[in-house]
Amino acid sequence: MTDTASKQFDIDTDIITLTRFILQEQQNVKSATGELTILLNALQFAFKFIAHNIRRAELVNLIGISGTANSTGDVQKKLDVIGDEIFINAMRSSNRVKVLVSEEQEDLIVFPGGGTYAVCTDPIDGSSNIDAGVSVGTIFGVYKLQEGSTGAISDVLKPGRELVAAGYCMYGASAHLALTTGNGVNIFTLDVQIGEFILTHKDVKIPQTNKIYSLNEGYFLKFPGYVQEYLTDLKKDNYSLRYIGSMVADMHRTLLYGGIFLYPTLKLRLLYESNPMSFLMEQAGGLGVTVDGDRILDIIPKSIHEKSSIAVGSKGEVERFLKYVNKK
Ligand code: AHG
Ligand code: MN
Ligand code: MN
Repeated sequence: MTDTASKQFDIDTDIITLTRFILQEQQNVKSATGELTILLNALQFAFKFIAHNIRRAELVNLIGISGTANSTGDVQKKLDVIGDEIFINAMRSSNRVKVLVSEEQEDLIVFPGGGTYAVCTDPIDGSSNIDAGVSVGTIFGVYKLQEGSTGAISDVLKPGRELVAAGYCMYGASAHLALTTGNGVNIFTLDVQIGEFILTHKDVKIPQTNKIYSLNEGYFLKFPGYVQEYLTDLKKDNYSLRYIGSMVADMHRTLLYGGIFLYPTLKLRLLYESNPMSFLMEQAGGLGVTVDGDRILDIIPKSIHEKSSIAVGSKGEVERFLKYVNKK
């Protein structure tokens, strides 16, 4: 019956929602307890709620600064504060998250009650772009608590290769959720009318190479000589430069089209920017390294807001960058 109607009207009546997808994934893993499924469900609620606030931001006075600064001294936008609160409430009420690190919170949060996971988040990435209506996003990384832990900083000061789930939700023309649970990358698009994320890009693989580079080249003179040489050679080789200034949006394009994203100086944060993005990119067949050529996912963080440099994207492009690192 379903097949007939689908064929007759050319409408897919058997779409894969995120909820259906994660329940299916859970069934495929024999040892799965269902805990991560509940956590992912809380995450998708947070993304929908944040997306809703971003969509109506101009209409309900959510544009502009909040008058406060975050732990790193950045001026907070109203949406930074609201996004953070939505995220914290969703994680706490899931009762599956014990530890939370947020860009907007100076200290680690340890929730009372149960929970066997630790989550790191940049609730609103690219917030300087918000007032111009440019895409922003939420970045997240999920760790399992250490055996016997009741929630401690050691649960998040782990190399990124130990992540059990990671990704981002980009709030643009529509909301796109790129998710990995360590078994490839899938992208879901929010259908606002039915309130569900729908699987639209299955098992995404990043192109091996593409002549696109993405960075804030305004800081060129601050980069090490070998990075300058690399960038100059890309120009000689007719590369295109694309830079939005929201990491999530730049990574989303890089994931789909291929290329390389670089932030060679220390600004981006390891726990909730570089690690989740590198994990996602590796799961899509790409690579993520520091400006010194070390694999991002092998770094052992010393503090929750630690910064890292990054060069991430297509394997072929990152390998090309590494040739310059090796001769520094
Ligand atoms: P956030 O809005 O969470 O502070 O992150 C901003 C980040 C990232 O999104 C982007 O790639 C980068 O900062 C842009 O920095 P520049 O303005 O220095 O290029
Ligand atoms: Mn950010
Ligand atoms: Mn942010």
